[in-house]
Amino acid sequence: MRVLIFDNHQEASDAAANIVAEQLNAKPDSVLGLATGSSPVALYERLIEKHRSEGLDFSLVTTFNLDEYIGLSKSDPQSYHAFMHQHLFDYINIAEQNIYLPSGTSENYRAFCQWYEKQIVLAGGIDLQVLGIGTDGHIAFNEPGSSLGSRTRIKTLAEQTRKDNARYFDSVDDVPHYAITMGVGTILEARKILLLAKGKKKAAAIREAVEGPVTAMNTASALQLHPDATLLLDRKAAEELSLKDYFLEIQKKEPKAP
Ligand code: GLP
Repeated sequence: MRVLIFDNHQEASDAAANIVAEQLNAKPDSVLGLATGSSPVALYERLIEKHRSEGLDFSLVTTFNLDEYIGLSKSDPQSYHAFMHQHLFDYINIAEQNIYLPSGTSENYRAFCQWYEKQIVLAGGIDLQVLGIGTDGHIAFNEPGSSLGSRTRIKTLAEQTRKDNARYFDSVDDVPHYAITMGVGTILEARKILLLAKGKKKAAAIREAVEGPVTAMNTASALQLHPDATLLLDRKAAEELSLKDYFLEIQKKEPKAP
């Protein structure tokens, strides 16, 4: 696990955007795994800027989103489909047929989940996966207690997650109780992983994910098992790390390291 600590979230997002751009320049037909929530918004803004000013090309890129609320149609403004169009897809040259998101309105979720996993394999697997983290340490909607080998499936949302995400809805009662989400096992198969976290309210989840045991109680801790996972944190999200100074020292020395 590589832990990078920045003065603020904008710097963390700029660094993440540079890593994504490097990936796309090296492999223009990359497969990206994408996340929703507030954490990746500044990264998406930066990618849009790079598309406009540097010609960063998405024409051959395929994307797979992590999750979607059950019961929300694609056109629902609170759906993750709508979120992705609003924050990224409508502003870059991605081909509509290369965009994959889990369906929140399937007639057969079990079949859909298997189909979704198969599309990831057929696309060649995810080259780079973007993640946020929930206050309870969840990645995608893999709530505490999720199997670390889990695949795409339906999860019941924890009350804390529904409360945290209520800000996007009129009231907490409107937040769906279920979501369809890639599993921890699905996420771990991505070749490279970037996790963005900002703010004090993520500090405890980050401490447990980085310095705690690998446990289903904090599914981000499974990233400790991944060979190429980078955490991009602002100072507040990194505040509770006992290894904070060590990580900062590595970051400073890294360009010169043998
Ligand atoms: C939701 C999403 C996660 C996201 C989390 C954190 O639960 N399913 O993918 O990481 O929210 O959201 P935020 O970045 O808004 O704090």
